[in-house]
Amino acid sequence: MSTGRILVIGGTGATGAEAVRHLLARGAQVRVVTRDPSAAADNPALQGAELVAGDSSQPETLKEAFEDVEKVYLVPPTHPGWDETQSAIIDMAAAAGVRHLVKLSVFEADPDEPSLILRFHHRGEQEIERHGMAFTHIRANSFFQNVLLLDAPAVQAQSCFYSCVGDAKFAKIDARDIGEVVAKVLTEPGHENRTYELTGPAALSYDDIAAELSRACGREIRYVDMPPEDYAALLTSVGVPQWLAEEFATLYGRGKQRAGASARTTSTVEDLLGRPPRSFADWAREHADLLRAV
Ligand SMILES: NC(=O)c1ccc[n+]([C@@H]2O[C@H](COP(=O)([O-])OP(=O)(O)OC[C@H]3O[C@@H](n4cnc5c(N)ncnc54)[C@H](OP(=O)(O)O)[C@@H]3O)[C@@H](O)[C@H]2O)c1
Repeated sequence: MSTGRILVIGGTGATGAEAVRHLLARGAQVRVVTRDPSAAADNPALQGAELVAGDSSQPETLKEAFEDVEKVYLVPPTHPGWDETQSAIIDMAAAAGVRHLVKLSVFEADPDEPSLILRFHHRGEQEIERHGMAFTHIRANSFFQNVLLLDAPAVQAQSCFYSCVGDAKFAKIDARDIGEVVAKVLTEPGHENRTYELTGPAALSYDDIAAELSRACGREIRYVDMPPEDYAALLTSVGVPQWLAEEFATLYGRGKQRAGASARTTSTVEDLLGRPPRSFADWAREHADLLRAV
């Protein structure tokens, strides 16, 4: 029997927590599966959600989480072999009778690209469709929040950040806008069997991003471009696992993103939310404290 319960897999993450916050504000019954329910209990965005223990990188731990669930927001976790994990979770959702599966995918998902991320998200979309349950694929451009995850230490210590994108532009997006879209898609009719391409308001090169960070932080911050091999080595040297460092070098430096494929802007956020997507300049001002020089 349908309970109307929505399961969020990845609900402690950048898009997931915001999706949960908006779902709760819309009166939805929300369950979040997390490796650490006691830490999640302290997250203000998750107050009012049911927190259950489970590890989304080990689907066999999610059985209980899928009980009496009508809809799911799936954020595939990032770990080696995540394509198989993603497939197993999609199979579990189908077996549990989930009516609508909303999956975070990626802008320009593509089975023919060298990047695992672009290929595996495309594969996950296809698998959901083959199961025949209602789907919404959320093809999101790269998040503003990546600056804090990957680049903040170099910005703080060296007033620069590194990548291998050359002068390619990206219509990056605030992950909070993605979460808000997901909550709407899961609580209003009319979004089934759709693919939504979500971007921020403008295409920015990494030099443009450096200029916005400089304005927000009140000091010069530079972008340093390097060959993909050197970027992978740099990421490994600061503790990024080798497979992921290699993947980021390929995603940004060896495929169609470097050729400008992620520069396209869409009106989808504004069409769905009735307001423009947040800008990088505003995000940078809001987070300038976290990027101050040390
Ligand atoms: N970052 C981007 O720019 C971007 C753009 C488009 C699509 N995506 C896709 O978004 C997904 C994840 O995004 P994200 O990396 O930015 O993370 P995130 O959404 O901020 O958080 C990852 C979530 O996965 C869970 N998790 C379970 N096992 C994990 C593991 N072994 N390692 C890490 N997390 C684990 C974590 O939950 P608990 O810790 O609570 O268990 C956490 O809620 C990926 O599929 C990625 O391809 C990212």
